[in-house]
Amino acid sequence: MDSTAVAAAHPNIALIKYWGNRDDSLRLPQNNSISMTLAGLHTVTRVRFHDGLPSDAIVLHGRPATGEARQRVVRHLDLVRQLAGLSARAEVLSANDFPTGAGLASSASAFAALTVAATHAAGLHLSTADLSRLARRGSGSACRSILGGIVEWTAGLDDQTSYAVPLAPAEHWPVVDVVAVVSTAEKDVGSSEGHRLAASSPLQAARLRGVEARLAACRAAIHQRDFPALATVVEQDSDLMHAVMETSTPPLRYRLPSSLALMSAVQGWRAAGWAVCYTLDAGPNVHCLCPAAQAPAVEQRLMSMAGVLRVFSAAIGAEARTLAESDPLTGLL
Ligand code: PMV
Repeated sequence: MDSTAVAAAHPNIALIKYWGNRDDSLRLPQNNSISMTLAGLHTVTRVRFHDGLPSDAIVLHGRPATGEARQRVVRHLDLVRQLAGLSARAEVLSANDFPTGAGLASSASAFAALTVAATHAAGLHLSTADLSRLARRGSGSACRSILGGIVEWTAGLDDQTSYAVPLAPAEHWPVVDVVAVVSTAEKDVGSSEGHRLAASSPLQAARLRGVEARLAACRAAIHQRDFPALATVVEQDSDLMHAVMETSTPPLRYRLPSSLALMSAVQGWRAAGWAVCYTLDAGPNVHCLCPAAQAPAVEQRLMSMAGVLRVFSAAIGAEARTLAESDPLTGLL
C-alpha cells in the first residue's frame, strides 16, 4: 500500500482540569474535564503508510524523533494499524505554527492531528467519538482537541466510555484566551509523569470530592454566559490542581513568582470591574480568559507587567480536520 493523509488540530485550554488517572496505560482519567479548543494555533501532521518502509520514520519540527518521543508516536501508529489490520510502516511529518516553548501544551494538538491523519491514511472512517477515544490513548487532553468549541471529556469507566463530547459551539460565547508567557523553558516533569504522582498528594481526594460540583457550576456558567460565575470556578479549579501538584511526592512546582504576581493582578482587575480570570496548565504561563470585547485591554495590561515575555490571544477554535495538500497550512511541513 501507499496511502497519505494530512490533518490539522488545535491545542485546548482546560477550564476544569484533568489531573490523575484511574488507569495510566489507557489514560482513563479520575474526573471529567471541560476545555475550549484554541483557534489560530495548529499542529499539522502528514502520515504516509508505505509497504516499502523498514520502520516508522518520524520527523517532528524538522528533526528525526528519538527515544520516548518517537516511541509514543510508534505506539499510537500501532493502535491505528491494529484497528485497520495493517502492517505497513509509516512516514510521519509534524510541525506546529506556535513555538513549542510558547507555554502551550502541544501534546493535545499533536495527538489529535496524528489520530486524524493516521486513521485517514489507513482507510478508516471513524466517528468523532471513536477519534476522540483513540486520541486519548496518545495524550489524555488530545481527546478534547478532536472537537471544536467548548467540550467535556466524559471520564467514563473503560476505553469505550471515555471520550469528549460537545458542550457548546464556538459561536455560543466568544471567550478569548489571552496567554501571558513568563517562561519558555522546557518543563522538567511532563504531564504523563505528573498524572502518576497525583495520587501521592493528600489533597487529590479533596480535589476529586468537589469536582462534580465544579463541573456543574462550569456547565451552568457556560450555558448562561455568566462570566463572574465562570471566573470563580475556573480559578478555583486551577488553584486546586496546582495545590495537588505542589503537595505530591516529589512535589511539582509549575508556578513561578511571576505567575503568582499575574494571578493576583488578574484578581485585582476583576475586583475593579473587568471580566477576566486566570487558569494555568502544567506550566508557569498564565492563561487569562475574557470575553472578546475585553481582550485588547487585557493584552495591553499584561504586556506592561513585569516578567511577561510575550502575549498572544486565541479565540475558540474548530475541530481537528483533514487538509487538502493544497492547503496553505501544509507549508509548515
Ligand atoms: O493530556 P496531558 O497528559 O498532557 O495532561 C494535561 C493536563 C493539564 O493540561 C494540566 C490539564 C488539562 O486538563 O488539560
